[in-house]
Amino acid sequence: MKQHLLSINDLSREEIGSVLDTARFDFLDLSKREIKKVPTLRGRTVINLFYEKSTRTSTSFELAGKRLSADVINVKADSSATGKGESLKDTVLTLGAYRPDIIVIRHPHVGAAAFVARYVVAGAHVINAGDGKGEHPTQSLLDIFSLQQEFGEDLAGLRVAIVGDILHSRVARSNIIGFQKMGMEVKLVAPPALLPRGVEALGAEARHGLDALADVDVIYLLRTQSERHERANYLPSLREYISRYQVGLRHLSGGQKVLHPGPINRGVEISAELADSGEHLILQQVEAGLAVRMAVMYRIIVDSAAAAADEAAAGDSRAGARAAEGEEAAGKAKIKNIRAVG
Ligand code: MLT
Repeated sequence: MKQHLLSINDLSREEIGSVLDTARFDFLDLSKREIKKVPTLRGRTVINLFYEKSTRTSTSFELAGKRLSADVINVKADSSATGKGESLKDTVLTLGAYRPDIIVIRHPHVGAAAFVARYVVAGAHVINAGDGKGEHPTQSLLDIFSLQQEFGEDLAGLRVAIVGDILHSRVARSNIIGFQKMGMEVKLVAPPALLPRGVEALGAEARHGLDALADVDVIYLLRTQSERHERANYLPSLREYISRYQVGLRHLSGGQKVLHPGPINRGVEISAELADSGEHLILQQVEAGLAVRMAVMYRIIVDSAAAAADEAAAGDSRAGARAAEGEEAAGKAKIKNIRAVG
């Protein structure tokens, strides 16, 4: 892994597979043990900096850090100095004084995680836990993990339809990239107003009706992000949206699985009947999220330490080579001098 995880594009397909193997083989079963804790990050400090409402992601990162034995500090915007006018930059510089190893950031603005990465104290790692409608890379990782648990590790050729408010969804953005990296075919299903402009450039087929669900293996539902709708009326009528886009049991043909990042809006994008059925993987996604975030926190520290050690070793051997070259040059110079004297 790189120093920071800001986008799912920071990971290659192989790296995604390797991080998810760490989640699967090292951390998934921890929840089933009596003592649900390992000493892996003892003495490390994790700061969770949340400027937006969250239940799943914030508890998942908090518990992941605690189960790895890190010292975990949770900062919520409504109870932080932000309410007193402090800028994100100053908050990050302030928290840097604690020498954190990891800062997890959720923020309503696209690019906030990259901004934090610019000002974070040297050596610390930044994990993007959702930046506005930008990206949510750990959600994509946990979704890929959940699909692997269900369909096997090789997801190539699996067909998925992402349905709902794609325009405002960071989950959709990360998953379009992440699912395609794993070789999956992605279809986007939404009313035209809730699809991003130039959607074809994302490499996914765009459709406007639920008939598009007939030939997919996976249906990935999204809530309408009304908190990001303030500048326009994207949904002239919620009733009409529900009648055209709500997914219920009647839309499923055998063997299809339904995913949703949560929070679900029961009776809007998902029928109550489907929400109460065993046809979705929503709770498996939450369980996967914990193991995956433990793996991300562990690997982001360990991999970059290994990369630094490699670099130092390469530096040593470069320095060794330079020293040898220097000695050789000095030797030649000496000979020259001797000859000159002689
Ligand atoms: C997110 O943070 O983007 C959520 O997990 C999905 C949502 O808010 O609808």
